Order: sequence, then structure tokens, then C-alpha cells
Amino acid sequence: MFEIIKENNKYKNLVNGSWIASESNDYIEIKSVLDNSTVGFVPTMSQKEVDNVLENAKVAQKQWRETSIDERANLLYKAAEILEKNVGVFVDSMIHEIGKDKKSCKSEVLRTADFIRYTADTVRTMSSECLVGDGFYGGNPKKTGIIKREPLGVVLAISPFNYPINLAASKIAPAIAIGNSVVLKSSTQGSICGLHLVRVFEEAGVPKGVIQTVTGKGSEIGDYIVAHKNIDFINFTGSTDIGKRITSKCGMIPVILELGGKDAGIVLEDADLDHTANQIIGGAFSYSGQRCTAIKRVLVMEEVHDILVEKLLNKIKDVTVGNPLNGDFDVVPLINDKSADFVMGLINDAKDKGATILYGDKREGNLIYPTLIKDVTLDMNVAWEEPFGPVLPIIKVKSYEEAIEIANKSEYGLQSSVFTKDINKALNIADKLEVGTVQINNKTERGPDSFPFLGVKNSGIGVQGVKYSVEAMSRPKVTVLNI
Ligand code: NAP
Ligand code: G3H
Repeated sequence: MFEIIKENNKYKNLVNGSWIASESNDYIEIKSVLDNSTVGFVPTMSQKEVDNVLENAKVAQKQWRETSIDERANLLYKAAEILEKNVGVFVDSMIHEIGKDKKSCKSEVLRTADFIRYTADTVRTMSSECLVGDGFYGGNPKKTGIIKREPLGVVLAISPFNYPINLAASKIAPAIAIGNSVVLKSSTQGSICGLHLVRVFEEAGVPKGVIQTVTGKGSEIGDYIVAHKNIDFINFTGSTDIGKRITSKCGMIPVILELGGKDAGIVLEDADLDHTANQIIGGAFSYSGQRCTAIKRVLVMEEVHDILVEKLLNKIKDVTVGNPLNGDFDVVPLINDKSADFVMGLINDAKDKGATILYGDKREGNLIYPTLIKDVTLDMNVAWEEPFGPVLPIIKVKSYEEAIEIANKSEYGLQSSVFTKDINKALNIADKLEVGTVQINNKTERGPDSFPFLGVKNSGIGVQGVKYSVEAMSRPKVTVLNI
């Protein structure tokens, strides 16, 4: 079923129901993160081609919004089934293109199928409601409001490299479920995975023009597409820099932005330190820390600092390192040279300023070994920057207040963890943390995908999570009957 999306390893875009080769014959070579081999070529689309895609999306959406929720939900169930059946194809594509290990690729695909299915379940329950105006002050029982959910129109979905299936589908499924059409612009490194995903929705029977794709470098086509007159909503996941750039270009087009993070693991003196160390190491190093929700700093009370450090040091030795072509590993090569250079820069800056490297600090190509750093002080870049790599700084604190202050001083506000046996303390600290989600006695993480997921400050705008995404990509439409 995937043969039609490419010819001679040159991928096509889905445009108005047909897979179309590049008009200009201009292609970007996608090389494997793992061995530099060619994975395939994706078209660099011109502004004219983008215009055509967006024109089709406008037309298709007008018909699509007239279909029943039941019809749309059934297409989603079918898409989830097809995705699951083809898990092997997706795993292969992801391993080569983004260098994720097989086990994580598989779980991403299966989680995505569940997400799509749950979206179908959820949208069925989000149908219209009626309100009678008699409850309000000075009540008027003669007014009846029919409140329907209206789609917004054309949704531009822009996804990052690290979850090329899940973070594309988690925009597409809620958007189309409520009657929008979608144009997917995947991360260039990850775009082949994105094209495979869209083929699944097409195979499930999503009508022409309802989902289409655009490929090309964000740095070249991004500014044009985000400000396009035919876009009604932008659903973006990626770095804070690009998120900010989009808001500076898109004018009044509404957005959801899921951006970077610097999630803190706050460890109190009464925490179960074995459990805490397990959670922190898993949270910091899986997929080499290339997760928005990775634990990116530890703030530990001085009383238990040394014991925790010892436990982290013991645990980090279990973190597996290697090339996903040879097996399942926690730490794998980073997505590109620039990312690896950036991470090494953070490590070197910390060393220069007096931090102690406990483990790691070793690089082979883009593979950076899991690195644990103590004696980290607030003048070091690693205390504040999002590494998106396998490096974990440990900062010693004297009080809860200090932990909260340092946690909140970050420009980011995605998630935080608090480790303690005292639920009252945990809840008090949770109340004061400026983040979207606080995890108590668990690593920071996104799922379950039905929960609201959001970042505050430079971590984002708006709320995702199945029901919340449907709400964000629709609006109430009120018709009032006056009798
Ligand atoms: P990125 O470099 O910001 O790219 C994200 C997407 O934006 C890609 O599709 C990229 O396309 C596109 N893009 C680039 N320039 C653009 C422009 N001027 N206009 C419009 N789109 C443009 O991020 P990434 O490296 O793929 O992902 C890592 C970042 O994403 C991290 O900061 C991570 O924390 C964040 N993230 C956040 C969440 C969350 O839920 N909060 C989840 C996952 C990742 P090209 O690839 O063609 O440049
Ligand atoms: O990279 C961001 C993802 O949304 C994180 O999801 O916490 O399940 O790894 P995760």
C-alpha cells in the first residue's frame, strides 16, 4: 500500500487525493541519522505548489464539515487499524530516519493507533447541547440556545522530528474528527515517516483534499505557509525559537504551540531514593533525552544530595548506548551534528565553570554517552538551556523555597516532578510550580494522551490532549431560538 508514495526513492506529496511528484524536480536528500545512507528524497515544494494545496484544503473542508461525526469517527477507527497492521513499516522508516530504537518506535506507533481510536470515541461525546435561558439572572425561559461545535477550517499541522508519527497524528486526528481539513508539514528529518502516516489516513478513506502534505525546509517555506491567507489555525510542535518566529509572522491566525522545556526533578529529603533515581535516569536518558518532557535538571535537597548522586551514578551504568540498527538502546545518536555540538558545548561550559563530570562526557560522531554532572551552579548554561540530549545536571538546594525559585526562574514551564513521601508537601510545592503539569513521584511524561498537555511561559500556548485538542481546533456556534 505504500508503493504509490514514491518512485525511484523520490517521495511524493498527497495533493487533492493524488500522490504528486515535485513539479520543479527539486528534492531534499534525507540521510539516515545512523549511517548517513540515503533514506529517500522529498520534494522542496514551491510557493505555487503550496498555494494549490491550500486552495484544495479550503474547498475540501466545506464538504467535509457536512459529514456526520459518525462517518468521521468510523474513518478514524479504520485508520487506527491500518496503522497497527503496518507497524513494521513504520518502525523501519523511523529507525532509519530519526534513529529511534525499535522498541520505542513500536510503542510510538501503537500509542498513536490508540490516540486515533480514542479521538473517535471522544468526538462522539462532544456533540451539540441546548441551553435554556431561564437559569441566568432575570431568567428568560423563552430563549433556547443550540450550541454546536464548528470546525475552524484549514489546520496547518507542523510536527517535530522526535515523535514523527505521534505528534503528527495527534494534530491530524482531532482536527479532522471535528470537521477541519489538514495540511501536514512534517519536520524535514521525519518527513518520510509523515508521508507514510498520511497514506494510512488516505487508505482508510479520508476524502481528497481533507488531508494533504507539504514538504520542504521550514527555513525556506515556513514563513510563507504560516502567514497564508487560507490557513485558519496553526498547530505547531517544536522549538521555542521557531514557535516565537511563527507567532511573529502569522498575524491573527490562532495557534497552539507545544515548545521546549527544562523539566525539573525536585527531590525532597524524605523521598524514596531508589525509586527516585530509577525515575530520573529513565526520564532523563530515554531516546537520548530527545523528548520535550525529559527530566533536564535535578534540584535535590542538600541532606540527600550525596546519597542520590551515588544512586544516580549506579543507575546510569545500566543505561544502554548504541546504534538502533544493532538492537534496542536508551541512548542513540542525536538527530544531527548541530545538536551534538550544542550538547557538548553545554558540557564543556559546565566543566570550564567548575562542575564535576561524574559519568559520560564522551562523543563518537553524534552519539553522546549519558552524562551526569554535579556541582552545577546557576551561572552555567546547562542549568538553564534545553539540551535535547543525554546530559543531566544536578543542582544542590538548601530549602524547598530555593528549589521552587530555581525551578520557576526557567524561561520554560512544561512539567516538573516532585519526589517525596509527604503528599502535603508535594501538593504545596506543586501549587507553586509554574508549569503545565506536576508529576508526583514519577518522571515527567506526556501520557496518558487523554490528559490535558500544555506548557506555560516559553513552553507553549494552548492545550493539547484528545478532548482539549478537539476543543482547540473548533469553536462553539450558538443559534438562539426566541419563542
Ligand atoms: P524545530 O527545529 O523547531 O522544528 C519543528 C518544526 O518546525 C519542523 O517541522 C520544522 O521544519 C518546522 N520549521 C522550521 N522553521 C520553520 C519556520 N520558519 N516556520 C514554520 N515551521 C518551521 O524543532 P525540532 O528540532 O524538530 O524538535 C525539537 C524541539 O521540539 C525541542 O525544543 C522540543 O522540546 C520541542 N518539542 C516540544 C514538544 C511539546 O509537546 N512541548 C514535543 C516535542 C518536541 P524543518 O524540519 O523543515 O526545519
Ligand atoms: O517530546 C515530546 C513528547 O510529547 C513527549 O512525550 O513524554 O511520552 O515521551 P513522552
